[in-house]
Amino acid sequence: MTETLRERIAAELAGARQRTSVLTECVDEADLTAQHSPLMSPLVWDLAHVANQEEQWLLREVGGRDPMHPDMDPLYDAFEHPRAERPSLPLLPPAEARAYGREVRGRVLDLLEVARLDEPLSFGSRLTGGGFAFGMIAQHEAQHDETMLITHQIRKGHPVLTGPDPGPAPADASRLPREVLVPGGPFTMGTSAEPWALDNERPAHTVHVPSFLIDTTPVTCGAYAGFIADGGYDDPRWWTEAGWQHRKRAGLSAPLYWRRDGAQWLRTVFGRTQPVRPEEPVLHVCWYEADAYARWAGRRLPTEAEWEKAARFDPATGTSRRYPWGNDEPEPRHANLGQALLRPAPAGSYPEGAAPCGARQLLGDVWEWTSSDFLPYPGFTAWPYREYSEAFFGPEYKVLRGGSFAVSPVACRATFRNWDYPIRRQIFAGFRTARSAVLSRRGDPAGLVACGGGPGVPRPESG
Ligand code: AVJ
Ligand code: FE
Repeated sequence: MTETLRERIAAELAGARQRTSVLTECVDEADLTAQHSPLMSPLVWDLAHVANQEEQWLLREVGGRDPMHPDMDPLYDAFEHPRAERPSLPLLPPAEARAYGREVRGRVLDLLEVARLDEPLSFGSRLTGGGFAFGMIAQHEAQHDETMLITHQIRKGHPVLTGPDPGPAPADASRLPREVLVPGGPFTMGTSAEPWALDNERPAHTVHVPSFLIDTTPVTCGAYAGFIADGGYDDPRWWTEAGWQHRKRAGLSAPLYWRRDGAQWLRTVFGRTQPVRPEEPVLHVCWYEADAYARWAGRRLPTEAEWEKAARFDPATGTSRRYPWGNDEPEPRHANLGQALLRPAPAGSYPEGAAPCGARQLLGDVWEWTSSDFLPYPGFTAWPYREYSEAFFGPEYKVLRGGSFAVSPVACRATFRNWDYPIRRQIFAGFRTARSAVLSRRGDPAGLVACGGGPGVPRPESG
């Protein structure tokens, strides 16, 4: 048992490092040390930060070793230096950052041979129970692989990254209902059992969620272009007060990286400009834009609890799954994950990854904005460090769920929580919309059959 766990850990660590290498070897020294946006670190900072976290948590905390470079920690501490400040720090140059990463990894693999993984995870005490500390570090590097891919999307210059094109949507995609029903009632949100779940996903707790309907797929570029064409960006009716102020101040008029070319929209993807694909889930919209679109469509963003219930509640057993499709680890047939494709797949893809309610693409493709603030679950305990989650709890951050094409399967599950400011657009985020189900006099939810989009269409939804 622990032997398989050791192998699994080694494979996850190697997989994350493989991706880190791809993302940092395809550009030159100048590109690695440059700051491509004040929102992002130079790539060479991510490279050494990942190694520094691995050294701190695995070699020092678990292994009891002394620091390899005692004066270096503050440089790579995200709380000491905001991203905009990082290029001016005396960072390790690329070759030294790589050597540091290799040195740490070699010692970690030695430690893994002898580490005690046999005890079950006892959350809040031993770091290695269930392999947690190793899993946390593999997830951390994978998360920075997504951060680095965001930097690549921002970076100007000749294209260096390509991925295979997602295939066409499956044959049944055009016949899918626009929305699916999730019946009201209690469900288990969060988890206490998932061995590598991070502190903010814990503990499992019961939440009562009234009946609601949720989009079968994420909102597409084609549907979003309809919002733009209908003057959605110029109509304060659809925007919250803060959203409208932001939309004016920032001059928002379309998703980030979109540009109008006569009658069509173009979008730049990792340095290549091409027509927007109408069937592709929309990406690079902020929370305010997602919220405005939903109001324009006569709908709203789902709450975080609604999203999670749609993604994992199985009415046949009354239990919550680890993934929409069940409890088996993600495979390429389930979801678009792991930077294998460098863009979302067409709406309606991945029928084998569908949730019990029928919704598709809940994991992978695009992060999905929810209406909820990032808050602790009842009974939350910060572990193993306050700066992972607790320092961010509060109304300033909105929760995103699901994970994008850039997320590694190791850092993806139906309980995983991401968060960001409602103005952020550089992340690989889109959304889907929802509405509360209104019961007819017979007690059936009304409006279960697909109904068209756009304002002015009379509909039985509440808000
Ligand atoms: C969960 C994506 C918000 O990038 O700030 C990386 C992940 N935490 N290193 C972030 C993370 C520490 C985190 N997000
Ligand atoms: Fe980090």
